Amino acid sequence: MFDSGVGGLTVVRALRRLLPAESLIYLGDTARVPYGNKSPQTICRFAREDAQFLLAKGVKALVVACNTASAHALESLRRECPVPVIGVIEPGVEATLAHEQSRHVGIIGTTGTIRSGAYQQALKAARPGLKIQAVATPLLVPFVEEDWLRHPALELVLGQYLEPLLLRGMDTLLLGCTHYPMLVPLLRRMLGGKVRLVDSASTCAAHTRDLLKAKGLLRAGRARGGLQIHLTDRSEQAEALARRLLKGEALRIEAAQL
Ligand code: DGL
Repeated sequence: MFDSGVGGLTVVRALRRLLPAESLIYLGDTARVPYGNKSPQTICRFAREDAQFLLAKGVKALVVACNTASAHALESLRRECPVPVIGVIEPGVEATLAHEQSRHVGIIGTTGTIRSGAYQQALKAARPGLKIQAVATPLLVPFVEEDWLRHPALELVLGQYLEPLLLRGMDTLLLGCTHYPMLVPLLRRMLGGKVRLVDSASTCAAHTRDLLKAKGLLRAGRARGGLQIHLTDRSEQAEALARRLLKGEALRIEAAQL
């Protein structure tokens, strides 16, 4: 699994719960985060390098635990990789559509994800009557990577981003970035119970299970699989966040060179 930074660990957490027997290798490209403000060409190049790193370790499947990379590079990775590749956009769309009563969906994500139109197009195609409002929220990833999850400045920034969505009556907020589930406690406090929050982490884990099963790749047995974390930059805050997020895991964090 890979992401630009520590955000994809939200998907790791969901996968660990659903498939505890599988061994996971996670690559966080913390030296080059964020991906969300880079050009599509650069995002594709980074995604290819991330995939190569993991393929060299002999993985049997690849999870692109990053919306920005999924939006831009999923098709080419699927063409180029010899193993099944799972992204987070389809699961995010599925999780959103699971609720029939959603009428007005707000989408927040990196500039790259929102500009790609991947979520907007997939949702419109599946449910043409749905009202969709997408807002790029590029300042949120740096807050998460800095582990400033309780900082008053974050609330201020989120408030600005959410205002246009709330003004037009959003009833569902799709968190189109794997970093954003870490903002859920604050979002819940700010939005109360009137807006449903959707993210792709658990649906992505379910997709991964179904795909491994269909391909006969699920690991049998009850023994817990290993978990390796590789970061291209081992900053103190990234490691602290990883340890907090994956509390209870025997974490091995290593430096990665791409
Ligand atoms: N976590 C990522 C995503 O889901 C990328 C954030 C970024 O690097 O800008 O889009």
